[in-house]
Amino acid sequence: MNVRPDFSRHANKAETAPAFLSVWDMHSYYGESYIVQGVSFNVHEGEILALLGRNGAGKTTTLRSIARLDNPQVLKGEIWLDHQPLHKMRSFEAAQAGLGLVPEDRRIIPGLTVEENLQLAQIQPPIGWSLDRIYELFPRLGERRRQEGVTLSGGEQQMLSIARALARDIKVLLLDEPYEGLAPVIVDEIERTLRHIKEQGMTTIIVEQNAVRALQLADRAIILDTGSVVYDGDAAEVLDNADLRAEYLAI
Ligand SMILES: Nc1ncnc2c1ncn2[C@@H]1O[C@H](COP(=O)(O)OP(=O)(O)OP(=O)(O)O)[C@@H](O)[C@H]1O
Ligand SMILES: [Mg+2]
Repeated sequence: MNVRPDFSRHANKAETAPAFLSVWDMHSYYGESYIVQGVSFNVHEGEILALLGRNGAGKTTTLRSIARLDNPQVLKGEIWLDHQPLHKMRSFEAAQAGLGLVPEDRRIIPGLTVEENLQLAQIQPPIGWSLDRIYELFPRLGERRRQEGVTLSGGEQQMLSIARALARDIKVLLLDEPYEGLAPVIVDEIERTLRHIKEQGMTTIIVEQNAVRALQLADRAIILDTGSVVYDGDAAEVLDNADLRAEYLAI
């Protein structure tokens, strides 16, 4: 018999007091496909949460559900951000409520320079970081402000995508695989930036295939397996727990 290690004491450890971002019993579907199957977790203000799990575990679907994109449909559950009911909102309302999603494909707008991509994010209030502050954080973007955004390197496009989220007045930053396809030295640079953003008080959820890097950055971790939370606890504990890593992260 294949005995699976018991990590259930960690599962769904949602607390009763409302957290800064709170996902409660969320169920999400793509059409008939039932993907996120009753996920609950909290994110505290100012912390970095790593959202991990194997390919197809439901990480992107969880982020898209929180951001209130049209697909998937969230048919049950509640999502609260700083006392605001995201589950009752459409994506543009969630964005106004302070949700900043940086999708995996980065979505740099063709035909616009770096600066125009950032200005477009600030076309409507509430406005977040000023362009000066953004260029201080990402000097490479400042140097290339007149260059078309889509001609940047992969790492620079990732920086622009994060910068564009910060250009709005966001309360939480959701990052879907920000390190994907990037050289380790660029990952180092983005990681330093994310630490700096945290020091400024930002709350962040990072989804990463590069679980070790994400766990080194994060305070806490959630592990998903087939649309359910199988671990909710300290990031450092996951790094220390070889069984947990082998079972759910294959690292
Ligand atoms: N648009 C869609 N329509 C139908 N099913 C989808 C859609 N997008 C994803 N799925 C399915 O939902 C499940 C979860 O996918 P999801 O993209 O959330 O996983 P993930 O954890 O982000 O994986 P990865 O590490 O590969 O990015 C998978 O079985 C996937 O095939
Ligand atoms: Mg994904």
